[in-house]
Amino acid sequence: MHIRTDAPDLDLNNLGFAYVNTDWRYRAHWKGGAWDAGTMTEDNTLRIAEGATSLHYGQQCFEGLKAYRCKDGSINLFRPDENAKRMARSCERLLMPEVSEAQFIDACKQVVKANERFLPPYGSGGSLYLRPFVIGVGDNIGIRTAPEFIFSVFCVPVGPYFKGGLKPQNFVTTPYDRAAPQGTGAAKVGGNYAASLMPGMEAKGKHFADAIYLDPATHTKIEEVGAANLFVISKDGKRFVTPRSPSILASITKLSLLWLAQHRLGLEAIEGDVPIASLADWAEAGACGTAAVITPIGGIQHGEHFHIFHSETDIGPVTRKLYDELVGIQYGDREAPAGWVVKV
Ligand code: PLP
Ligand code: COI
Repeated sequence: MHIRTDAPDLDLNNLGFAYVNTDWRYRAHWKGGAWDAGTMTEDNTLRIAEGATSLHYGQQCFEGLKAYRCKDGSINLFRPDENAKRMARSCERLLMPEVSEAQFIDACKQVVKANERFLPPYGSGGSLYLRPFVIGVGDNIGIRTAPEFIFSVFCVPVGPYFKGGLKPQNFVTTPYDRAAPQGTGAAKVGGNYAASLMPGMEAKGKHFADAIYLDPATHTKIEEVGAANLFVISKDGKRFVTPRSPSILASITKLSLLWLAQHRLGLEAIEGDVPIASLADWAEAGACGTAAVITPIGGIQHGEHFHIFHSETDIGPVTRKLYDELVGIQYGDREAPAGWVVKV
């Protein structure tokens, strides 16, 4: 395996969120009851059976996590154990074999090491986005779990997911649902994202960053956006609230912000209801996720009403502090709580 060290032909200081064909990816196969040891390949295509369950019945799941270049040159992964656990839960929900935490983290490390030339430099604001996924493959036609599976991890150097990075974005509520109350919303499976394509396109067509989903049972409470969870900050700046729902993805960024809000900022940090009718009760709002990091919410359009939290340039003080804590930990500039950072 030849690991290239020459600089790639792209500006690693000015990245958006777009696919780049990097050098190496990890691939493991499951057949007859076990995963093999996995290998690295330069091939960025997959050759799978035409009847594969992942193609017809959505039997697949994925993850998203990032590697960060630190000031001292070392490389951090942020809470990869949490991604491994969430992928195991997604696999369980879709009757796919779980990948062990050890194999998951080892695969991520191998992919970062083999593609280190694509890691954006410290201070650029960029990172190496890792995309692990599991798909059902092998000959099949009926609705049943696949006879074989592939676990793969590839990586892409990325900058901000929403244009402008730490710049307030406007969102709009959608009448569509991305998941059902007892459906697969809590699993990171492709079907949820297929369901979000049309609402997302409609939102962007109206010049919003993305759609906000409301709870599928009553359409009265905020759930999340297509690629991130949400949080709000109370008017007195003392309460951090993020929606609790069985149909949203259990965001690892949200989990981290709950802890940071409580232990580093001294806030009351809870998961609870955020009624869409309560927007005027909150001083700040933000979207949070691996790709979205913390994206301040400038305003939310709901029906005829546009509620403004912040102007295009103004970022709330609590949102700013949370951002500095989170990003500081990810890039190794602030002390990480035990176990949050894994060195590659
Ligand atoms: N919600 C959805 C629908 C997502 O796709 C993501 C991205 O992973 C998140 C929330 C944020 O999750 P995390 O913070 O684990 O990246
Ligand atoms: C992530 O933050 O990892 C996401 O899943 C967003 C993505 C779907 C682009």
